[in-house]
Amino acid sequence: AASLFAPDRANSVGFDPTHRTAAAEILPLREKFAAPYQWHAATYGDTQGKTITITNPANPNDVVGTCTVATPDSVTTAFETSEPWAAQPDARAAALVRAGEILQSKAPEIYALLAREAGKTLPDAIGELREAIDFLNYYAAECQKYPDNKPRGIWVCISPWNFPLAIFTGQIAAALAAGNAVIAKPAPQTPLIAALAVSALYEAGVPETALKLCIGGADVGAAITSHPMINGVAFTGSTATAQIIRKSLAENAAPGTPLIAETGGINAMIVDSTALPEHAVRDIVMSAFRSAGQRCSALRVLYVQDDIADQLIEMLCGAMDELCIRDPWGLASDVGPLIDETAFNTIHTYIDQARDKGQLIRQLAAPNVGHYIPPTVLRVDSIRDVTTEIFGPVLHVARFKSHELDQVIQDINETGYGLTFGLHTRIDDRVQHIVDRVEAGNIYVNRNQIGAVVGSQPFGGEGLSGTGPKAGGPYYLHRFYDAAPNVKAK
Ligand code: NAD
Ligand code: ALA
Repeated sequence: AASLFAPDRANSVGFDPTHRTAAAEILPLREKFAAPYQWHAATYGDTQGKTITITNPANPNDVVGTCTVATPDSVTTAFETSEPWAAQPDARAAALVRAGEILQSKAPEIYALLAREAGKTLPDAIGELREAIDFLNYYAAECQKYPDNKPRGIWVCISPWNFPLAIFTGQIAAALAAGNAVIAKPAPQTPLIAALAVSALYEAGVPETALKLCIGGADVGAAITSHPMINGVAFTGSTATAQIIRKSLAENAAPGTPLIAETGGINAMIVDSTALPEHAVRDIVMSAFRSAGQRCSALRVLYVQDDIADQLIEMLCGAMDELCIRDPWGLASDVGPLIDETAFNTIHTYIDQARDKGQLIRQLAAPNVGHYIPPTVLRVDSIRDVTTEIFGPVLHVARFKSHELDQVIQDINETGYGLTFGLHTRIDDRVQHIVDRVEAGNIYVNRNQIGAVVGSQPFGGEGLSGTGPKAGGPYYLHRFYDAAPNVKAK
């Protein structure tokens, strides 16, 4: 069926999310978006903190809302007034499921807020709400399998801006499902969507003593993670921040306080000469440029077998030309802006330096308002040339010869990261050979490498990319309980 989002682009190789059927639900919102209103996050704590203003990454003149950040006093108060959630698992589960229903009932408002606060395209916003609800339902179901397990106490949940609803809600849902009290700190770029999620959880019956929202940046995060009353941390963000938190827990918390850290990656894909080029190109474009490359799972380094490299790169550039890069609220938009000016400047400088070194293969045009970096392809010799996670729509392409395959795998492993890995080949033995050797948490064969589905594709990395257990999988909840896990489901 023709897409309501892009009827003129039915044959486009751009993104084709199944969620586009929800367009009818969204179209009436265009009017609301055209006359923006402002959200104001409830403070849920000390009102003495400073007020911050949130602007739209696609248009910094558009003020999305304001909120009050936490102070050291409000962090202390949050710990001292927290109480693990005493309700039975079935009652906790019912409240979490209800929170998902409330979020669903607010879908239009949530899509608008995700677009304006986080720069999400509509397909990404729709997918994000779906994932948040999936987490609520999944952990609600899981916790009822372990009615005798006890919570650890006070869990701290610290989340990034790139999944400001799904990851924020997922961490909290797991900790609450296990009966803990939660102190949640969203990223400072996206507090409004976090406040909306917290209000849905309260409305669903989660007591205010069991869930506290502390808004702020690294300083507030550091105040929270150095508090001695902490019993566990679920963190998603950069590897560098995870290392700071681990050190703080070692210095300030009780020995053995668990840290679940889900962090970054320098993710690779290998495309060999037997791959179906049209299929590979579609998955490369999706993996590298969806969400403007602002996914931990995104493809950063593409290895193409030399024999097909010229043809594949030409097809890739052609496919990129079909991408629509503009206002996230544009219904046909495929690629939105970067989250803020800092991110924009970092990636812009990186691309400029690569251009000066003659590495640029292709760069699209982008709007000149907002923090847009257009999808960009750079030439590299190997993944060893990419020394940090470039968190934007930048794809590095390297070539390899057939006899170099094992060296390529070794180079990928030697980054020390191990989050996602993609492979396109039509040789079964080669799939086995590579999958047996690549060290990555999530490996995808002959498909794109983003968008793990809660409950069926548990998500998490190895090495510098994460501690496990994988989110949205059957082992995740056990880390939130006090006793040794009762893995025998009742
Ligand atoms: P970040 O590490 O800068 O921030 C993440 C969170 O940590 C934010 O809430 C931030 O305020 C907080 N924080 C920062 N310094 C802190 C400190 N000293 N103590 C306590 N908290 C602190 O990351 P980001 O820029 O918000 O997010 C992008 C990163 O997240 C990328 O590296 C990406 O790969 C990673 N990520 C990983 C996953 C995953 O599942 N593995 C998912 C999404 C994002
Ligand atoms: N879970 C997200 C993905 O798989 C990060 O893309």
